[in-house]
Amino acid sequence: MAHAPKAISATTAAAREAAVRLTLEEKAVLTTGASWWTTEPFPHAGIPEIRLSDGPHGLRLQNDERADHLGINDSAPATCFPPAVTLASSWDAELAERVGRALGRECLAHGVHVLLGPGVNIKRSPLCGRNFEYFSEDPFLSGVLGAAWVKGLQAQGVGASLKHFAANNQENGRMSVSSDIDPRTLHEIYLSAFRRVVIEAGPWTVMCAYNRLNGVHSSENRRLLTELLRDTWGYEGVVVSDWGAVVDRARSLAAGLDLEMPSSSGLGPARLVEAVNSGELEEEILDVSAARVAELALKVTAHADPDADYDRDAHHALAHEAATRGAVLLKNDNELLPLDPGADTRIAVLGEFARTPRYQGAGSSKVTPTQLDDALTALALAAPAARIDFAAGFPVDGPRGDVAALREEAVRTARAADVVLLFLGLPPSFESEGYDREHLELPSEQTELLAAVTEANPNTVVILANGGVVRLAGWIDRVPAVLEGWLLGQAGGTATADLLFGSSNPSGRLAETIPLRLADTPAFADWPGERGHARYGEGVFVGYRHYDTRELDVSYPFGHGLSYTTFEYTDLRVTRSGAGLDVTVAITNTGPRAGHEVVQVYTRAIGSQVRRPLRELRAFAAVPLAPAETRDVTLSIARADLAHFDIGAGTWLVEGLDHGVDVGASSRDIRLTATVTIDGDVHADALDADSTVGAWRAHPVGGPAIERLLERMRKTMGAAYPQEGSPRYRMIADMRLSQLAKLPIVPLDFDDVEALLAEVRHESPGASRTELPRRS
Ligand code: BGC
Repeated sequence: MAHAPKAISATTAAAREAAVRLTLEEKAVLTTGASWWTTEPFPHAGIPEIRLSDGPHGLRLQNDERADHLGINDSAPATCFPPAVTLASSWDAELAERVGRALGRECLAHGVHVLLGPGVNIKRSPLCGRNFEYFSEDPFLSGVLGAAWVKGLQAQGVGASLKHFAANNQENGRMSVSSDIDPRTLHEIYLSAFRRVVIEAGPWTVMCAYNRLNGVHSSENRRLLTELLRDTWGYEGVVVSDWGAVVDRARSLAAGLDLEMPSSSGLGPARLVEAVNSGELEEEILDVSAARVAELALKVTAHADPDADYDRDAHHALAHEAATRGAVLLKNDNELLPLDPGADTRIAVLGEFARTPRYQGAGSSKVTPTQLDDALTALALAAPAARIDFAAGFPVDGPRGDVAALREEAVRTARAADVVLLFLGLPPSFESEGYDREHLELPSEQTELLAAVTEANPNTVVILANGGVVRLAGWIDRVPAVLEGWLLGQAGGTATADLLFGSSNPSGRLAETIPLRLADTPAFADWPGERGHARYGEGVFVGYRHYDTRELDVSYPFGHGLSYTTFEYTDLRVTRSGAGLDVTVAITNTGPRAGHEVVQVYTRAIGSQVRRPLRELRAFAAVPLAPAETRDVTLSIARADLAHFDIGAGTWLVEGLDHGVDVGASSRDIRLTATVTIDGDVHADALDADSTVGAWRAHPVGGPAIERLLERMRKTMGAAYPQEGSPRYRMIADMRLSQLAKLPIVPLDFDDVEALLAEVRHESPGASRTELPRRS
């Protein structure tokens, strides 16, 4: 997928001219942050300052004196949209794009040029402390949503920063740990979302990760930052470091890292100047990076709008929409939900999170919201005829107080109620950028409260607030209904009330599997690594690829989520379109309410030559349907998305196979299925005398040639020749051809092998030419 060089734009030309007007020292300064959030302007060369800011789910605008990247100091009020974990559960790219656009408007209004997001790292383990900031365990879902978000943001003239490139899947040891990943896994799982966002959305910046990848610091990884990102994917923007990720500025620049952030107190520029002067670094490399930074500065400031403003209420409403679309109704026995908002019932609202919402994660993404809805107030407003009694039930991250007294009060409140709404979740200190969790459990005072409350009143609905998966298996059987709210952003309180009372119909679907227990998770045995190395031993079997292929029971599978209505799938049609497939299915809303169904298309490579997951997500859509409405939904699968990364060929290959096309409502709720034959990519491994007999047989030219030889063996050896398909036959297939020719009982010699090689070379001139050993 190498990209031809494009004609350069006027901005590129202007940036190159501007960079030429800079001295060596100035270029070194331009390519290093001037402060925590800004670059240095060079008015004499016409290069303005660039202002960057966190992200991603809201603008974290700090003033330079009180800047930090750990979520310590305040930032200006901005809309706190639901973090990626929740947005992803909407499975709605159009919604992600609208959120991106709104974020862009807020950046414009605050004079911010680049917003540091989205994060498309894969959720390798539910323990990662930063999972709330990432979309999914699936690279396709992450990539599609990430690309939509970037398109929305950049449509406003504000640059995105795709992060953290690459394989930053844990927080433990993140500044130095090496993610040790085999090439196939790296490409299929950990690079795939980045590749999609780069190619489809062209983010103006890409942020390198802190961690090392296969031993090499991401900030110095030329293979990653230049050969893959630019030469293979055609990236043309700026590569920026994560804050403080640069180890050696000269090595990082040579690897393709254009901009070091933040300011390095003069060290970065000094090192660059020294490296150029000593001949260690070619000045032309610095010229290229300086021109890229200058181009970004010209581009972002051309879009700046000093009069820009945004409608706070409209953005709050969008945050509310995203929250209602992202919450996942996991369980709803006997249709306990939705509650009747007009009923004269007594509702016990229990749990501190109802009053003090947990609505975003901690660390560099922490936003100061423009307003904050809590569920307790929202529930009272939504159901004016109901009597609502509140009890906190447990302490959250604060002084412990009298836990037993809190529990008893909650139990009394529950006993007197018709229905209990129990708000549980992870305390803020449990999950944050910078460290991982050690287990998947809710705090014990919460599970103990749940046991006591459900004893007093089994009519209990649990509403969860958590950025990473929590284990449900220990307690979920005690309750009839569970709403997984993830982290719902600043409008989460009203969104929760709307979902519980049915003015919104839940449509969120799990973007990550909820396992039964930690020991079942894919990375369990290798987490978090040792002696500075995290070995990704599970390979491509991450998330549902792991659980489904191994047929492990889970609490809820990838893609699961209930609705207050029901949907029927009929009439699956799979047709070829261009190089790919069009999958059309009729979806009918067979229930009483309007709602979105998230239609999911998975494929299975039947009889693949490589070990592949049982099924993999290839397309999806969130489809709005009125009661009784039927819609034909067509989802396209690009042929390239059927490929695997072939370690023999060193590239992506589509195998010529039957592919199963499974359409359904989760990875384990497949409603319709079809099979389609796909022609494979033409690829032949280069053959030589050391290639196995099996490899020769699979080769388009070598295959027929070796068959003639084997036929001769068959005739000469008679009954001693192994039966096709027998274990002994397989032993022969595994032998190197040169090895076979050495066996005394086999009527082959090196002249035969030489003749075969000559035939292959003649027919496929690219074939390798290993010299044969000679029998003395
Ligand atoms: C985080 C980035 C963030 C940056 C700036 C780093 O610690 O990893 O995601 O954008 O700080 O705050």
